[in-house]
Amino acid sequence: MVKDYLFPKDFWWGSASSATQMEGAANKDGKGKNIWDHWYEIEPNRFFKKIGPSETSQFYERYKEDIALMKELGHNSFRFSISWSRLIPTGEGEVNPKAVQFYNQVMDELWNHGIEPFVNLYHFDMPFEQQEKGGWESREVVKAYVKYAETCFDLFGDRVKKWFTHNEPIVPVENQYLYGHHYPALCNFQKCVQAGFHSILASAMAIRAYHKRNLGGKIGIILNLTPSYPRSQHPADVEAAKIADAFFNRSFLDPSVKGTFPSELVDILKKEGFMPHIEDGDITLIKENTVDLLGINYYQPRRVKAKENLFNPNAPFMPERYFDYHDMPGKKMNPYRGWEIYEKGIYDILMNVKENYGNIECFISENGMGVENETRFLNEEGMIEDDYRIEFYEEHLKWVHQAIQDGSNVKGFHVWTFIDNWSWLNAYKNRYGLVSVDLDKDCKRTVKKSGYWFKKLAVTGLI
Ligand code: GAL
Repeated sequence: MVKDYLFPKDFWWGSASSATQMEGAANKDGKGKNIWDHWYEIEPNRFFKKIGPSETSQFYERYKEDIALMKELGHNSFRFSISWSRLIPTGEGEVNPKAVQFYNQVMDELWNHGIEPFVNLYHFDMPFEQQEKGGWESREVVKAYVKYAETCFDLFGDRVKKWFTHNEPIVPVENQYLYGHHYPALCNFQKCVQAGFHSILASAMAIRAYHKRNLGGKIGIILNLTPSYPRSQHPADVEAAKIADAFFNRSFLDPSVKGTFPSELVDILKKEGFMPHIEDGDITLIKENTVDLLGINYYQPRRVKAKENLFNPNAPFMPERYFDYHDMPGKKMNPYRGWEIYEKGIYDILMNVKENYGNIECFISENGMGVENETRFLNEEGMIEDDYRIEFYEEHLKWVHQAIQDGSNVKGFHVWTFIDNWSWLNAYKNRYGLVSVDLDKDCKRTVKKSGYWFKKLAVTGLI
């Protein structure tokens, strides 16, 4: 018997994107430089095929066409980010009127098509001048961010009723200060912890500022939650998974939703001598200003085992001093991106949020499959037949459906992403869109098979 999976009537169907990844026009209309513009200038070889952030998918010029297509493909909501350095070119001071005009037009265009804008304030794109001051490592930058957030609430709060303080705040922090994927590519755990703490503090301050304004909307955060599964039930494996979870999930999830930090993590930071600098009042501020709404990005699980070897005491400190990654035999892989596909992970996250985080209102804010060289799947009509993507989404959605049956407060599902976009160092290597972008033909948009599949899903609520 074929089972139908029917989703609630007012489920949020849509997609997510970010300014740097889709706007383009990086040097246009007074936008200031962010770290990506700068990094590309000095090290273009870091980027796949040396494609930088300056043009990306041209949303800046083509937002009308794109929004019409979103409507056509069934969107009732769309998440994008405001580019801090477009709105306030150096990160603090004067507001750029051209940017205000652009974001106003995008928001109005969305509403005119019956699509609710979900607006994120920070998606990996530190203004260059603020990075020169230390980026998230610096308390001055926290202040500048809060001013920027307030500016956004004042300018757009009449039309935006769902705000997010950050997208995946752990990602810029770990990649800028530990793992080398984002500028300035340092390897310094102390700075990493400080930057992480400041991101959380900045989020809480922005939430406070938003709530004070009584604008009648909600403010949340978007986190990439990667459930940690131990290799076995051996106590050492279980402990390793618990620590990985504290480092990579609970570090941001606990303060954002509960206003507290996981004691397992604090104990390690104390023991290893990496506690951040905290000022009077910070802990109370974080405690008192938690999110209304949680966005969950899910791509892959984290499989963990107890450490096999002693670590090199002279190497820079890494969280991986406490666990090893486990390469599970027989796991299902997306070979293009090198990521495991584990659909039930999405259910496990939702149940964890239900049971341990007060079943806070949440939604899947990103889920998606990156695939290289998709033109090999072009059919005679010139459409990419991405059945693998449709299957990927359907298998995840079945688990979201199960979570709803089991009481999860999950309100929607946003795919990553609407049109193929620029994925940081990978540039246009892996494509994620429901709509393809032809870089050789002035970014011509063509709906993929998954785009039509999505439309049917959004319209009928049924897979
Ligand atoms: C996420 C991130 C996005 C996008 C996506 C696909 O982690 O939020 O910016 O790049 O991964 O790689």
